[in-house]
Amino acid sequence: MDTMYRLKCVGCGTEYPADEIIYHCPKCGHLLAVRYPLDAIQVEKATWAKRPLSVWRYRELLPVIIEPVTLQEGGTPLYHLKKIGEELGLPHLYAKHEGMNPSGSFKDRGMTVGVSMALQLNKRSVACASTGNTSASLAVYAAKAGIPAVVLLPAGKVAVGKVAQALMHGARVISIRGNFDRALEMVHELCLSHGLYLLNSINPYRLEGQKTIGFEAIDQLGGVPDRFVLPVGNAGNISAVYKGLLELQDLEFIDRLPMMTGIQAAGSMPVVRAIRENLPEVVPEDHPETVATAIRIGAPVNAEKALVAIRKTGGLAESVTDAEILAMQRDLARKEGIGVEPASAASVAGIRKLAESGAIDRSEKIVCVVTGHLLKDPDTVIRQCEPPTEIDADLPSLLAALRL
Ligand code: F0G
Repeated sequence: MDTMYRLKCVGCGTEYPADEIIYHCPKCGHLLAVRYPLDAIQVEKATWAKRPLSVWRYRELLPVIIEPVTLQEGGTPLYHLKKIGEELGLPHLYAKHEGMNPSGSFKDRGMTVGVSMALQLNKRSVACASTGNTSASLAVYAAKAGIPAVVLLPAGKVAVGKVAQALMHGARVISIRGNFDRALEMVHELCLSHGLYLLNSINPYRLEGQKTIGFEAIDQLGGVPDRFVLPVGNAGNISAVYKGLLELQDLEFIDRLPMMTGIQAAGSMPVVRAIRENLPEVVPEDHPETVATAIRIGAPVNAEKALVAIRKTGGLAESVTDAEILAMQRDLARKEGIGVEPASAASVAGIRKLAESGAIDRSEKIVCVVTGHLLKDPDTVIRQCEPPTEIDADLPSLLAALRL
């Protein structure tokens, strides 16, 4: 394959050809990242600006050279959170609503690139472990590509909307009696032994698609925000956005980096602990638990990259309780009209906590990534709301029920 980019180990720096199917450095075991010869890349900001806002606006900084497998992902709205911002004294608070992607989460940015790369690398079957959204997205893009997908889920811990998507789009859906971290180990082994293409976030190509969240937010804001806030599970997304911003800086498209800020659920917060205690690496949690099942992850595989992103940008890591997450899910829905799943509300809940404790400057321009749609997890919504009032089918009953 004739490409300009290579795979580079984030640990020892060894480079590998772009078409080697590896997920870790064969020498030292660290993760890999895609490295472009940025000085040789021909791209102008003005060229990007002429294209529709989408993942593929930025194709010069993406690894796909074939016709991509696409469903028009990206181009998601950036909303000004006026009411919540006012309450918190944060006049420049924004939410990038990744729930508006084709399968309802940011994973589609990764999968349009990841499944395209599967085809480019002549792989004809794909697999992942998932807390739900990755599996839904992989099922969607594998269907579009016309190749089989296998997804492994932690039994009983995946929101019903996500399972429904994986099933309807035709993936082989396997529930394991174990958590996500175990599912990832298993699918990794399966891919290495049986040649399926692994599309979890240890796949460096998938993360390339996700970095476009940062590119889009900067284009939408007309500049670099002071802070980027993301919910952290496997820590792939925060790492991806950071990598993309470094590339923009190298290209001199931006002149500074935002403070990368990661939010985890209090029952599942190995990255927050590592930052707080200044540890060189995360200590995995054996029994992660949170209502935000999307980020119920005890051993984040991209933690190594995420710690660098947070530390190098002077960012923060904070945890939020399930109650804080659900309260923000309701506030986003009722005060801003933005429907997100619990994990997504974590980013804004984290900002509420940081603002209230005085940890951030109130004049900051802040972009919170809200990662998945409300309808992903209807059970958690229904549990928080009053059930509909059922009445006889006549007007007096209606007026009585409405107390009119
Ligand atoms: N928000 C949502 C809605 C997610 O589904 C995930 C991850 C995250 C945030 C965290 O992103 O892992 O890159 O730090 N979901 C994965 C999945 C693990 O399988 O769907 P991360």
